[in-house]
Amino acid sequence: MQNQVVAKSGREHKYFVYVMTLVAAIGGLLFGFDTGVISGVILFVKSQFHLTPMTEGLVVSAVLFGAFFSAALSGRFSDIFGRRKLLIITAIFFIIGTIVAALAPTALWLIVGRIIVGFAIGISSFTAPLYISEVSPPQHRGMLVSFNQLFITIGIVLSYVVDFVFSNDGLWRWMLGIGVIPAIVLLVGMACLPESPRWLLSKGFEKRAHRILQKIHAKKEVDQEFKEIEDSLKHQHGGWKMLFQKWLKPAIIIGFGLAFFQQVAGINTIIYYAPTIFQMAGFQSATSAILATSGVGVLNVLFTIIALPLIDKWGRRPLLIIGMIGMILSLAATGLAFSAAGHSTMLKWIALGSVMIYIPSFAISLGPIVWLMIAEIFPLKVRGLAASLCSSVNWGTNMLVAVTFLVLVQLLGPHGTFWLYSIMCIIGLVFIYFFVPETKGVTLERIEENLLAGKKCRDIGE
Ligand code: BGC
Repeated sequence: MQNQVVAKSGREHKYFVYVMTLVAAIGGLLFGFDTGVISGVILFVKSQFHLTPMTEGLVVSAVLFGAFFSAALSGRFSDIFGRRKLLIITAIFFIIGTIVAALAPTALWLIVGRIIVGFAIGISSFTAPLYISEVSPPQHRGMLVSFNQLFITIGIVLSYVVDFVFSNDGLWRWMLGIGVIPAIVLLVGMACLPESPRWLLSKGFEKRAHRILQKIHAKKEVDQEFKEIEDSLKHQHGGWKMLFQKWLKPAIIIGFGLAFFQQVAGINTIIYYAPTIFQMAGFQSATSAILATSGVGVLNVLFTIIALPLIDKWGRRPLLIIGMIGMILSLAATGLAFSAAGHSTMLKWIALGSVMIYIPSFAISLGPIVWLMIAEIFPLKVRGLAASLCSSVNWGTNMLVAVTFLVLVQLLGPHGTFWLYSIMCIIGLVFIYFFVPETKGVTLERIEENLLAGKKCRDIGE
């Protein structure tokens, strides 16, 4: 049996890694779907449950709350129980939360269901990229892990389609309930797939780790990889204590920084408030609102697809830098257009053009690369814990931006708000330039060695 496995051709090895990637990335699909679907649901539950502005806010943000807390609390579990088991538990949370929300007899139950779905999203947001990064060969890791981001963007578009299909008859329970199908696929899929070989080895399951490495890598690479992982585990104990050791500081700075800047760049204000932004700019019909929303979603998918092969070819840093420049300029242009409102009839076209530059710029940079690097830069023994904390920084900042957007528009005006995001992106660009390393083609173990050797943030991918 073992020999049979070893005899597999390189193509078959690759095929198996793709299966593992696509199944884990369903976690991303659910992340996108469940964050997007609420915009349609809220229109109907508002009147059915007589929601006040306060309860409406709670229904909309319950997922973010759940994700923030679960991301903060579940990291240790991914190091203790393994990536695969955690993804299976995540799928169960997705199923339970979706059923509770779809059948909710009151607003309170709806909020409870959505918080449970949020728990699942928070866990899968870091566990799915981790699992994929630990089974990928280094030369394709960027693309494979970024499938998760591609699935997030597809999930967002699917949520618009589902909202649109069921909105004629006000079937909000179906809008939510349909999410149970991908959740079941994730559950069954993960139950059939093996655990990450890196995690197995970190727990001393050598034979199983070796067997899985044989399934996913070419024969000649297996022994060397096995040894590199084994070496990297020496002298590491894992847990919270390790997280505070000095040699891990560069990875923490990079991970927390990227997680933070991904959200303060304002992506979710553009994704979820696109119709509001276009309305403020002068496009007032319902058709233009629908076109704006779906256009933003589809652009996001298309440019994530374009980015996939480039992440391993050009590298993470060039894409991040190009994308950040695009975001800075497009946000500044939106601000400028709003500040000239009243004097210029061009406003709506400039706003439209800016969004059409902003979304592709995000999709080739902060979108995929933040989640990818969070899954790459930490040492194996604390990878789950550290990645989960970065993820929680991301969800916390996501909440902050969501809560403050409309307030900022009132305080600073739309122009001031977009300039503020543009300034955040400038600071983000400086951060990336000075602190973010290039990790293209390097093994995870090499990154770990560099950290141990005391290298600076920018140099840990050398
Ligand atoms: C971000 C989400 C965002 C999505 C849009 C993800 O990487 O974490 O906040 O909604 O990209 O594509």
